[in-house]
Amino acid sequence: MEIREIGVVGCGLMGSGIAQVCAASGFPTVVVEATQELCDRGLGNIVKRLERAVQKGSLKAPEKTAIEGRLRVTTDQTKLANCDIVIEAIIERIEEKNRLWRALDPILKKDAILASNTSSISITEMMMATSRPQRFIGVHFMNPVPVMELVEVIRTIVTDQEVFDSAIAFVRKLGKQPVRTSDRPGFIVNRILVPYLLDAIRALEEGVGSIEDIDKSMRLGCGHPMGPFVLLDFVGLDTTYYISNVLFEEFKEPRFAAPSLLKRMVIAGWHGKKTGRGFYDYSDPNSPKVMDLLRL
Ligand code: CAA
Repeated sequence: MEIREIGVVGCGLMGSGIAQVCAASGFPTVVVEATQELCDRGLGNIVKRLERAVQKGSLKAPEKTAIEGRLRVTTDQTKLANCDIVIEAIIERIEEKNRLWRALDPILKKDAILASNTSSISITEMMMATSRPQRFIGVHFMNPVPVMELVEVIRTIVTDQEVFDSAIAFVRKLGKQPVRTSDRPGFIVNRILVPYLLDAIRALEEGVGSIEDIDKSMRLGCGHPMGPFVLLDFVGLDTTYYISNVLFEEFKEPRFAAPSLLKRMVIAGWHGKKTGRGFYDYSDPNSPKVMDLLRL
């Protein structure tokens, strides 16, 4: 099945990145957001990123204009009617996602591929909100979407082989590297990444090392681009906590259980970079300061 036109629902951090990558790869892309304000904000963030790329010389000005020309941002879901694949990237709440899928089901064309960018919600549960579960898959992009090369392509026990293969070919056309995986909590990346991040917090709680030294160890000792605490703040502590709860709920293994420090930070509203505080304080974004979290 050939994919010509893309739909993206949600133009936040992930949705705007996905829409940008689709348009930059030559696909006409319809982006749907809930309000005009969210449309303007999402498109504004894409334009800002493209402007930065032009300033750095990695994108030519006419290419930027062409990418923008391929993007149509709207609050009208019916504009998705001609899309060959629709990628949902809205809030990580099953009720919200299923409400959306129930609304889109009668609008989308019969042979469209229905895809979710969820990092932790069951693809199987979402597909059951539609009349065509065999055409439903997961396509999980990594943050920041324009930079990270990987996309997890997730099948369920009922996904059509043709749908799965088309999604993999589509991901390659976006210039990304697909990996095949099945609908199990955390898929591949978060199944492995989240216990690692939780272990870094446990090591901190046990006094194995400071935030800075644990980060430094994994950066300089293992070649990771970010240490675990910088990465936790980048991914979001609320997101990590949410995913760890989903993993623990399914597998009941202690390695997936959220450390109490993480839980307390989430309750306190310290969700990382986006809220200005996490394991680091971002009051001065150019020079984050380590937080003193274990003080008595
Ligand atoms: N959006 C778009 N582009 C960005 C960006 C962003 N948020 N942040 C950085 N970039 C771009 C820069 O513009 C730059 O582009 P050019 O090479 O064209 O100039 C390039 O990325 C490198 O950026 P910097 O030089 O500023 O910084 P860096 O070399 O430290 O790289 C990074 C930044 C790419 C984010 C790097 O630190 C990194 O790879 N970190 C790890 C990120 C990671 O692990 N992501 C996965 C998280 S897990 C996940 O997403 C799954 C989930 O469900 C939770």
